[in-house]
Amino acid sequence: MERTFLMIKPDAVQRNLIGEVVSRIENKGLKLVAAKLFQANEELAKEHYSEHVEKPFFNGLVDFITSGPVFAMVVEGNNVVEVTRTLVGETNPAKAAPGTIRGDYGVDLGRNIIHGSDSNESAKREIGLWFNDAELNDYKLNNEAWVYEK
Ligand code: GTP
Ligand code: MG
Repeated sequence: MERTFLMIKPDAVQRNLIGEVVSRIENKGLKLVAAKLFQANEELAKEHYSEHVEKPFFNGLVDFITSGPVFAMVVEGNNVVEVTRTLVGETNPAKAAPGTIRGDYGVDLGRNIIHGSDSNESAKREIGLWFNDAELNDYKLNNEAWVYEK
């Protein structure tokens, strides 16, 4: 099974949507391995979004991510990066399909509710940035045979 990093952004925390979003992840059949409400500093936000350092929206994005606590999570499941990117929806909430997290809760590109790693490689890097090993819980859920064929 793979792991991914998901982060409920400050807009969704302020709008009291943590429970709604976590419910969708649990209802999907995925397993929470770690979670914390956490105020990121500028250094962490810049490192997290370092691939976008040259983009015109970079400074605004860093300001936004550090503007209040985020709810950071590690989630585990088969093919979890693809499964969660589908659950999250397109980057721009205006275009994201209804039924996706961004499609159902967001309107604006700069306030798009949640981040999800875009590859297994990014997931590893981001999990390492936001969590230490002691915060990651290794455990088995007894519903696995009802979520996965194999
Ligand atoms: P993340 O899961 O947050 O990484 O989003 P993504 O992978 O769907 O999109 P991407 O990595 O390309 O962009 C990272 C974040 O930057 C997005 O989630 C948006 O919040 C923000 N962003 C991307 N493009 C724009 C833009 O053109 N304008 C603004 N204001 N923000 C943008
Ligand atoms: Mg991204």
